Amino acid sequence: MKDIKWGELGFAYTKTVKNVRSEWKDGKWGTPYSTDSEHINMHMAATCLHYGQEIFEGLKAFRGKDGKVRLFRVEENAKRMIDSANYLRMQYPSVDLFRDMVVEAIRLNAEFIPPYGTGASLYIRPLLIGTGAQVGVKPATEFMFLVFVTPVGPYFKEGFNAISVTIDRDHDRAAPLGTGHVKVGGNYAASMESGELAHKDGFANVLFLDSATHKFIDEFSAANFFGIRDGLYVTPDSHSVLPSITNKTLREIAEDLGLKVENRPIAVEELAQFTETGAVGTAAVISPVGKIYDPLTKHTYIYGDGKTAGEWSTKLYKTLQGIQYGEIEDTHGWNTVIEGI
Ligand SMILES: Cc1ncc(COP(=O)(O)O)c(C=O)c1O
Repeated sequence: MKDIKWGELGFAYTKTVKNVRSEWKDGKWGTPYSTDSEHINMHMAATCLHYGQEIFEGLKAFRGKDGKVRLFRVEENAKRMIDSANYLRMQYPSVDLFRDMVVEAIRLNAEFIPPYGTGASLYIRPLLIGTGAQVGVKPATEFMFLVFVTPVGPYFKEGFNAISVTIDRDHDRAAPLGTGHVKVGGNYAASMESGELAHKDGFANVLFLDSATHKFIDEFSAANFFGIRDGLYVTPDSHSVLPSITNKTLREIAEDLGLKVENRPIAVEELAQFTETGAVGTAAVISPVGKIYDPLTKHTYIYGDGKTAGEWSTKLYKTLQGIQYGEIEDTHGWNTVIEGI
């Protein structure tokens, strides 16, 4: 076990021992190998550098109450990478190759899996890039698939507190028929200015609207949106929203807990009717949202006291975390237990 202050880790990179790689060349994936290098040596005309042929994923493994290591819904991340790769016309790892390389990366860095009870977990970052040289705008013929891991701390160090966010009416994250539904680097580049301006104004996150009409809620820069009212869990249906695996999971948990789930367009005005709202994703599971500012109307929507997580958000969060840490039975079969580490 590494000598790390697990409870003090943030959501940041900590060097581990090895990463796992495979390269696509001559029409096939090469045998995966591990390396202790944190660097990639590639051609200066690689398509990932010029034309954004870059896709990533993010998932987590958890050391459970019983000492077992559980990897959460890895097949879903593999399938989402395939969807992203198809859109960017990139070669991709099969679900089996994706899972095998993720598991290998976890095994090789087992000493970095945070102990149970610290609130920390092992974040896994699969990366797919076009490494082949092109000067014209066309897909590469060579690719690299790489998996690295890094321990990350508990998201809510001072408790499960609500954040304040702003709607952004000056920037769009993704075009109506663009790349919002796939996990490609360009989407995040497009959200940087917006995020930095919002942070400067004291907001923790930005809520983007649909870029065609600016009437409906899309999502945050790196998390889906949900609202709760009258026994309903509502989350946007939009082509430009990334299909979050956490949100998919929470929709099932919400139904298990007796909420009705609706996946449909959400008009901005409906923000006034919710009793709880939140941002959902792998990093935090749920960040309860206590305040949403709309610069158009200068109105702030407030949920509860604006600071504390609501009852349903807390229940949903605790249930999902309980399943990930092996405290609650995994009746849906979401976890892959990694034996022998
Ligand atoms: C734009 C965006 N939406 C939603 C999510 C949440 O997805 P997931 O729950 O699969 O982590 C993420 C994080 O990956 C994201 O980057």
